[in-house]
Amino acid sequence: MSLADQKATVAKAAESFKNENHADGNLVTEAAKAVLKESQERGGGVQMQDVVKIYPGSSVRALDDFNLDIKPGEMVVLLGGSGCGKSTALRSLAGLEDIQGGRILVGGQDVTGVPVNKRDMAMVFQAYSLFPHMTALQNVEFGLEIRGMGAAERRKLAMEKLELVGLSDQAKKYTQQMSGGQQQRVALARALAVNPRVLLLDEPLSALDAKVRVQLRDEIRRIQLEAGTTTVFVTHDQEEALAVADRIGVMNHGRIEQIAAPQDLYQRPATEYVASFIGLANRLPGTVEAGSNEAMVFGQRVPLVDGSATAGEVDVLARPENMTIRLNDQSGVLAGSGAQARVAAIHFLGSLVRIDSVISAGELTRHSGTQLEVTVQLPVQEVPAGLTIGASVIVAPRPVPAFAASAR
Ligand SMILES: Nc1ncnc2c1ncn2[C@@H]1O[C@H](COP(=O)(O)OP(=O)(O)O)[C@@H](O)[C@H]1O
Ligand SMILES: [Mg+2]
Repeated sequence: MSLADQKATVAKAAESFKNENHADGNLVTEAAKAVLKESQERGGGVQMQDVVKIYPGSSVRALDDFNLDIKPGEMVVLLGGSGCGKSTALRSLAGLEDIQGGRILVGGQDVTGVPVNKRDMAMVFQAYSLFPHMTALQNVEFGLEIRGMGAAERRKLAMEKLELVGLSDQAKKYTQQMSGGQQQRVALARALAVNPRVLLLDEPLSALDAKVRVQLRDEIRRIQLEAGTTTVFVTHDQEEALAVADRIGVMNHGRIEQIAAPQDLYQRPATEYVASFIGLANRLPGTVEAGSNEAMVFGQRVPLVDGSATAGEVDVLARPENMTIRLNDQSGVLAGSGAQARVAAIHFLGSLVRIDSVISAGELTRHSGTQLEVTVQLPVQEVPAGLTIGASVIVAPRPVPAFAASAR
């Protein structure tokens, strides 16, 4: 949303507020406190049920029977490539988009037809969306002012929030004089100041450089845990998602393909898309006997996770850390399981080493005439002595559960 759109939304909220005779600051403050207390008591869980969003003039379902159930206080990350519907999901939840089907509940209440300013949510965007001619403090106070909070009280609250994001010494600075990271902290403080039942973050770190991104990401998580605010965080960056989420919902074509805790998602992907979107995966040729829940890959048995292809030729998606590598003794006879490969590159990653190897097409029982690249990741101390670029090696998957896709 552009800054102009944001201003319009805020102005609209202010207008509707005035129309309800909330001119008396104290009265509103009391009301705001009551709302907050009530929301904490009933919990700000969120449900999106079979939500359909079709943009005007479009035939595509930007949200296609989208379902999401968030527990009070939980941080859910929506992760997916560009155009999969992440922002649409967030904007629909916020009430910034009307929806063509389904319903949305917050704290058990149906808010489907409720306007944006009545949903008790706050949003932070990729673009900082601050008022550049205002100081950090004024920006944070703004949302409180339009809610009718008195000057002294809103100043105190705004300062508290600036302190929370580590900017109390920058309160008097104009936001246009601040770095991107600082501006996004101000935006976060502004969102938190209104004590929303639900905090919505749409790629809030995408415009920042790598180091600031990691810092602020960890800080957002700390603040979110401290405040206990139910949060939806949208990103296309899997590392970011894995680092902050209670649960990650991987989106594809307007739906969540799988939602699970980061580790579960990584170890037990339920679809091919999820298996290849999160983390690296080697694609190894395997076969599954009908009725078996194991695949044979290079003579090694690999157990399969739920959702895998169940019979015939498959591609097993094996993580680099779930591969073994040993030097080929050159006898030409394979002792145990594995496939012959040649080391193409060795990357030292600190305590870990990543080894790129290549299996020539002739070694493969099933191939499309091209060689197969296999990546192996090991702790430094487990790298076989004498392993060099060009070395002949045997690679094999470990018997760790993996996802099997239909063979390509
Ligand atoms: N205002 C709009 N009008 C028409 N189509 C839109 C609009 N906004 C988004 N879309 C379309 O809806 C789909 C989802 O977009 P979006 O939610 O922005 O994806 P993401 O945030 O995951 O990149 C895309 O196909 C996009 O082109
Ligand atoms: Mg988006």
